[in-house]
Amino acid sequence: MSRFANKVVIVTGGASGLGKATATRFALEGAKIVVADVQGPAGHRFAEDIGGIFVETDVRDSGAVDHLVDVAVKEYGTLDVMFNNAGVRGPAAPVSEMSNEDFDQLVSVNLAGVFYGVRAAARVMTPKGQGVIINTASIGGVLPTAEIAAYCATKAAVVTLTQATAVELAPSGVRVNCICPGVMLTGMTDGLPAETIKRLDRLQPIGRPGDLTEMAEGVLFLASDAASYVVGHALVVDGGAVAGRPLGI
Ligand SMILES: NC(=O)c1ccc[n+]([C@@H]2O[C@H](COP(=O)([O-])OP(=O)(O)OC[C@H]3O[C@@H](n4cnc5c(N)ncnc54)[C@H](O)[C@@H]3O)[C@@H](O)[C@H]2O)c1
Repeated sequence: MSRFANKVVIVTGGASGLGKATATRFALEGAKIVVADVQGPAGHRFAEDIGGIFVETDVRDSGAVDHLVDVAVKEYGTLDVMFNNAGVRGPAAPVSEMSNEDFDQLVSVNLAGVFYGVRAAARVMTPKGQGVIINTASIGGVLPTAEIAAYCATKAAVVTLTQATAVELAPSGVRVNCICPGVMLTGMTDGLPAETIKRLDRLQPIGRPGDLTEMAEGVLFLASDAASYVVGHALVVDGGAVAGRPLGI
């Protein structure tokens, strides 16, 4: 199946985790991929592996994000899908102990970074009257968790940013949606104690973390023509975690 033959897709945070898995799936379906990340060597290697290009990009820098979109358009002639996925979780801490630096980092990567990506993509897509923008939020944006308050707040803001821009851009033919992944074992969960990972497993009725390809499938659906009437949606892919808790949890 080649749902994305010759479609030009930018994936931020594409050097690892969900971004990498999604870029791989898009490439398998024929897309031309622009991988963006702060991880230079890993990003370069991966982009080469999938026949795409790498643009070292810090999404906290609006000029760098504008440049990323410019490169995609210059190299491939257009931009069809913008996946604003780069994100950080920051350390878990009670709100009273959270530092300004950690708070600012979360807001600048998770919220400003997504905003810059939406804006840069909209500038290219709106005049063409087509395009798809997908943002990565989190189940933390719809069902907040203690001790990662700022993270959850940035992800809730991504959901709202998605809805507001979806409403604004839909008349021009540009669809904006977001994905709310549940727990996935990625760079973001590296370093968590084994006991915590086990506890995370029990949070979802399905009893295990999400496989990255299961999450990527959600993104590909939102990007595909099958989702042509899906606008401003927050697609929760979480093994049932937001639906409720298994008995005894
Ligand atoms: N892992 C989870 O359980 C989980 C759950 C819900 C949502 N998410 C979200 O999924 C997205 C992807 O995370 P992941 O789990 O794949 O983690 P990950 O750490 O494997 O991937 C995140 C990527 O973003 C990149 N990145 C970080 N800061 C950046 C910046 N300033 N500019 C550009 N790139 C930057 C990292 O280098 C990394 O490659 C994030 O938005 C995260 O919040 C993750």
